[in-house]
Amino acid sequence: KPPIVVRELAEQLKLKPFKLIADLMELGVFANVNQAIDESVAQRICAKYGYRFEVEKRERGSGIIHAPIKKIEVDIEDKPEQLKPRAPVVTIMGHVDHGKTTLLDVIRKSDVVAGEAGGITQHIGAYTISFPHPERKNELQQITFLDTPGHAAFSAMRARGANVTDIVVLVVAANDGVMPQTLEALSHAQAAKAEIMVAVNKVDHPNANPMRVRQQLQEKGLVCEEWGGKTLFVDVSAITKQGVDKLLEAILLQAEIMELKANPDRRAKGNVIESGLEPGGPTATVLVRKGTLHLGDVVICGPFYGKVRALINEENKRLKEAGPSVAVKLLGLNGVPEAGLEFTVEENEKEARDIAEKRTMEARAMGQEARAKVTLENLFATM
Ligand code: GTP
Ligand code: MG
Repeated sequence: KPPIVVRELAEQLKLKPFKLIADLMELGVFANVNQAIDESVAQRICAKYGYRFEVEKRERGSGIIHAPIKKIEVDIEDKPEQLKPRAPVVTIMGHVDHGKTTLLDVIRKSDVVAGEAGGITQHIGAYTISFPHPERKNELQQITFLDTPGHAAFSAMRARGANVTDIVVLVVAANDGVMPQTLEALSHAQAAKAEIMVAVNKVDHPNANPMRVRQQLQEKGLVCEEWGGKTLFVDVSAITKQGVDKLLEAILLQAEIMELKANPDRRAKGNVIESGLEPGGPTATVLVRKGTLHLGDVVICGPFYGKVRALINEENKRLKEAGPSVAVKLLGLNGVPEAGLEFTVEENEKEARDIAEKRTMEARAMGQEARAKVTLENLFATM
C-alpha cells in the first residue's frame, strides 16, 4: 500500500509539487501529483530534506494512510555556496591566577563598538567584540572569546564531539612559568585540534621571565616563531595593557588564514557555555555555531525547551538575532541546562516538548539502570 500522495508529501515538506516530482524522477520514480508513492521512496525524499518519514500505526479500512513527517535530528550538510565567513571563536585557557579573566576584561575594553553609554557591563563567560582589521583599519572584525573558569564545559563539549574553539590562547604568567594546569590546558587544546597561541602574561612583573616560558613550552613541542617554530608567542600585560592589541591582531591574522565559515541561513545550533538561575528565570549563555538564532525561536537544549524570550549581549543590550560565532545570553528555557550541552531549534513548541519529554524519560531510565547496577555491585561486594 503506497502510504502518501505526492501532493501531500510536497505540502508537508513545504516544497512545490513540481520540485518533488523532479526529485522523484531523479530516483527513477514517475508519478503525478495525485499519485501515491511507496514508503521507501518517501523516506528517501524526506531524508534529502532532513526529515524522517513515519507512517502512523493506525488501522484504516483501505486507501492511503496519512503519514506524519518528523524532522530528524541529523545535521544536513551545508553546501559550500551556503557558507559565509564567520568570526573566530577563541578560548582563553591557562593555569589558575595566570590572568585569564583580567586579560579578557582588558580585551573587552578594546571593543570599539561597545559604547561608553552601554550601561553596566556584566561578566559573562563568553562575549563577542569588534576590532579593526590589522591591515584594513576601517574594516571591523568580530572575535568571540570564551573564558574557562574550569575546563568542564570545554571537556563536555569535546565529549559531545563539538569543538567550538578555533583558537586557544594559552595564558602563561611570565613570573610563574609553565604550571600543571598550563599543560592540562595544552593537552585539551591539542585534542580539540585548535590553533594554539601563547600569551605570555604579567610581563610587567618584577620576576617576569618571558624567555623561560618559551623555553619550557619548547620542551612540550610548542616552538616559538623567533626560534624557527610555528607557534606565535605574544608578550602581554593585563595590568599595563602592553601587547594586548598585538595579541588581537595576531588572532585576526590567524583567523584569516583559517578561512572560517558557517551557514547563517538555517536553524541555529550551538552550545551552552554557562548557565544559571536569575530572577527572570533560567539563563543560558550560548555560542551559536551554525545558523541564526532569533527571538521567538523554539529552542531545545538537553531535557529543557522553550521559546526565546530575550537574547542579551554582555553589554545588557537586547538583540533580535545572533548568527554564527556569536555568544549571547538566552532567556526562555524551562530549566537550567548544563554547560557544554548542545541546543537546536525546532519547528514548534509541541515538537520540542515531545523531544524534551523523551529525553527526560531516557535520562530517568538510565539513572534507574545505573542505580540498579550499583545495588547489584554493592550486593556482590557484601557477599
Ligand atoms: P582563575 O580564573 O582563578 O583561574 O584566574 P585567572 O587566570 O582568571 O586570573 P585573574 O585574571 O583572576 O588574575 C589573577 C591575579 O593576577 C589578579 O590578582 C590579577 O590582578 C593579577 N594579574 C593579572 N594579569 C596581570 C598582569 O599582567 N600583571 C600583573 N602584575 N598581575 C596580573
Ligand atoms: Mg578567571
